[in-house]
Amino acid sequence: MSGETAVHQGPGIQGPGSAGAGRAGREPLEAILLVGGQGTRLRPLTIGTPKPLLPTAGVPFLAHQFAKAAAAGVTHAVLATAYRADMFAECFGDGSALGLEISYVQEDEPLGTAGAIRNAAAGLRGGPDSAVVVLNGDVLSGHDIAAQLDLHRKSDAAVTLHLVEVPDPSRFGCVPTDSDGRVTAFLEKTPDPVTNRINAGCYVFRRSVIDEIPPGRVISVERETFPGLIAAGALVMGYPDSSYWLDVGTPEAFVQGSCDLVLGRLASPAVPPGRGVPGELMMLDGCQVDPAARVHGGTVVGAGATIAAGAHVIGSVLFDGASIGAGAWVSGSVIGRGTQVGEGVVLDAVVLGDAVRIAPGNELRAGARVWPGEELGPTCVRFSTDV
Ligand code: GDD
Ligand code: MG
Repeated sequence: MSGETAVHQGPGIQGPGSAGAGRAGREPLEAILLVGGQGTRLRPLTIGTPKPLLPTAGVPFLAHQFAKAAAAGVTHAVLATAYRADMFAECFGDGSALGLEISYVQEDEPLGTAGAIRNAAAGLRGGPDSAVVVLNGDVLSGHDIAAQLDLHRKSDAAVTLHLVEVPDPSRFGCVPTDSDGRVTAFLEKTPDPVTNRINAGCYVFRRSVIDEIPPGRVISVERETFPGLIAAGALVMGYPDSSYWLDVGTPEAFVQGSCDLVLGRLASPAVPPGRGVPGELMMLDGCQVDPAARVHGGTVVGAGATIAAGAHVIGSVLFDGASIGAGAWVSGSVIGRGTQVGEGVVLDAVVLGDAVRIAPGNELRAGARVWPGEELGPTCVRFSTDV
């Protein structure tokens, strides 16, 4: 496995340190964003677009994380890319439009989460004692990164993990702590979680700890690095928090996150102003919603998308150019770019890829997924008989 590292930056970068001096006179704060996963649970949406670039409340998902990082004082972000790597630089360039500086480090083959962090460290500029923020690229969070950094610095930890409580910890990294907040174990996706407290996917590393990860091979931070640090007696701290948190890695969660941003359940500085947020729907450039349609629940109506009279759209995401026919009923669903939903069609919790055509008489429910470019003729699939 080659771990060869190529660091490049978007156009027009002025060189190290140009993005500012960070907070309170400290050295500039740097971050690594892990964005190399294939997003398989979001297929077919992620066939052509990596998960962190999916349109989310008017901007690519990652723009929300960049805005959050910048607000916490991050001045330089290194994107750890693998899957569809070129698309990230095309989208964000040098980062100046986002208020920070972006570098891109690509893995020839995906190196896993720890391998990716180690590889991306080639793009960092800080010294061995500097704090490095590491973010999973698919999380919406209202937590205070600056407070997490404070805890990290005060406790002089090797790593400090943002922790949240969820109802089903078996789908995440289970992270028990002692009464001082010290992490005592890291159990990734265990069937027998010992606590509801989980790894929320935002870490602060001491830079030298990253440099100790072996280079050029596939390693998981969750399955190797964190358990190894704990076993070796290193100080791994937990930063527990109860503000908004969501991993958008499944269709249900992706729709939820988009709706929550539109409804204002999570405020993000990256949401474009003047588009009705917070509110029941977000309308992007050139979209048309017939006055006789009902659209609510935090729905995004993408640029140039149309919703015809009598349609009812609840808590859904319409990508650019999608069209919803008269009298259709769409709930909790993602409608791909340029996809056409016929008159009276019923869609409940489904994902339609780009350029799909669903003719009248169809009823899709319960997590159905339609691949890009496919066509369902009249009355092909129903969950009920009442045509
Ligand atoms: N560059 C790179 N290379 N990035 C990667 C790779 C890789 O080989 N593998 C995964 N990533 C990135 C993904 O793009 C994503 O942003 C992040 O790492 C986490 O991967 P997911 O596939 O989303 O993992 P998960 O959601 O199942 O679990 C992770 O996140 C949970 C919180 O949302 C773990 O960190 C869990 O412990 C955690 O609870
Ligand atoms: Mg995830």
